[in-house]
Amino acid sequence: EPVRHRVQNRSTDAPHPQPNGVGVDEGFANEPDTDPSLPANRAWGREILRSAADASVFAAGDAALAAAAVRDAGALERMMADARGSASAWAAAGADHRATVLHAAGRVLAERRAELLAVMTAEAGKTLAEGDPEVSEAIDFAHYYAESARSLADVADAQFDPVRLTVVAPPWNFPVAIPAGSVLAALAAGSAVIIKPAPQVRRCAAVMVEALWAAGVPREVLHLVDVPENELGRQLISHPAVDRVVLTGAFETAALFRSWRPDLPILAETSGKNAIIVTASADYDLAAADIAKSAFGHAGQKCSAASLAILVGSVADSARFERQLLDAVTTMKVGWPTDPVSVVGPLIEPASGKLLRALTQLEGDESWLVQPRALDGSGRLWSPGVKRWVAPGSEAHMTEFFGPVLGLMRARTLEEAIELQNATPFGLTAGIHSLDADEVGQWVDTVEAGNLYVNRGITGAIVRRQPFGGWKRSSVGGSTKAGGPSYVFGFGTWKPVAREP
Ligand code: SER
Repeated sequence: EPVRHRVQNRSTDAPHPQPNGVGVDEGFANEPDTDPSLPANRAWGREILRSAADASVFAAGDAALAAAAVRDAGALERMMADARGSASAWAAAGADHRATVLHAAGRVLAERRAELLAVMTAEAGKTLAEGDPEVSEAIDFAHYYAESARSLADVADAQFDPVRLTVVAPPWNFPVAIPAGSVLAALAAGSAVIIKPAPQVRRCAAVMVEALWAAGVPREVLHLVDVPENELGRQLISHPAVDRVVLTGAFETAALFRSWRPDLPILAETSGKNAIIVTASADYDLAAADIAKSAFGHAGQKCSAASLAILVGSVADSARFERQLLDAVTTMKVGWPTDPVSVVGPLIEPASGKLLRALTQLEGDESWLVQPRALDGSGRLWSPGVKRWVAPGSEAHMTEFFGPVLGLMRARTLEEAIELQNATPFGLTAGIHSLDADEVGQWVDTVEAGNLYVNRGITGAIVRRQPFGGWKRSSVGGSTKAGGPSYVFGFGTWKPVAREP
């Protein structure tokens, strides 16, 4: 293992205030990312990219998945009974014990950063620049929820009863941090967990789960399940013995799960159609750079990504803003993640359906400011596209494409811009670039989104600093915030105890 020098290069925002007096300020600090400007770190990164290109990168994940394969309903029932049966002992072991194990999980994830990154590069197409903060986030979840577990035990005159069985159905776009966060929160509360990885990134989940087992999470408490068959997946999700389903995915998937079991106790982080407003008072250079990064990082495949920029008043006609945006977008190097210069990586699958349409067609009077191009025959590598002017109510205004295409909209006033931002069915992230405090205040008061970002990018929420979760069709089952002070409470019931002497 080469020496890896690291620096604290994460946000310096103040920690989010802790509501309810229940918090985890003591004993928690965000894990630093790897600083790619240091030569030793670049050498370390090149080594990871070499191992990502080697067929053996999947050996550990494949072995764990082979052991996790569930092929019929009988095996599924036995596994679920096993998990539920183990829950009482895990809960009874106490919050301190669970916190100790979760802190150990954070340390093992940190030790295995290089292995996790190699699998993410190879299987999920993540560049190191995108994957490295994701590993930091997974580590943060472990330490943060460990302290959350302790805070559950600290509340006077109340008892917390965890649910027994949680099923985690994570997405493919954050193949380590999101599954880790969902699993660790449920474990912190005292629940047993079954994780069913997203099919595209099963090995990433397997390697993450292996790290948790190695840290001391009992295998009978945390089950990895590989169900290649859709019908078994349906049986797992909709099983009456499941107390919580944690889904991160499309709104339609949450609706599908509910159609299987109408009373499904689901916590879901769903789709987004996120916009950044730019007003005439903005720092245009910064705004353009933040829009490009938020729109095209991980090829736009983030629920938090910017897929609209709403330009207020003179910004829409500003040649300077246009030049800055063009520069920011066209200098992003597109390529496979094993090439260290790639900034925009591949789509998880060849573009199809509404994304392919968005990349290749215009609606109404739209025109291309930057036309996307397919860079090879794979259908997965696309240069970023920017279309203008997206019309209110059009598909490009209302629909999540989940890919590297940004729509520009015009608004006469800030009020109109906020109306356009709020008009979508979703409300996950939202941004504004404005150096006018009154404008920002007005926006904060009226914007309908779960996470607000001022004069910065709108992706990459950091545990505790930006507790993350959406509003409207971006969330199902209550607006809980992952990486926030009350997330773990969603995995159980409080019993306030009122006593007379
Ligand atoms: N938490 C991620 C972000 O903020 C999205 O899931 O980008």
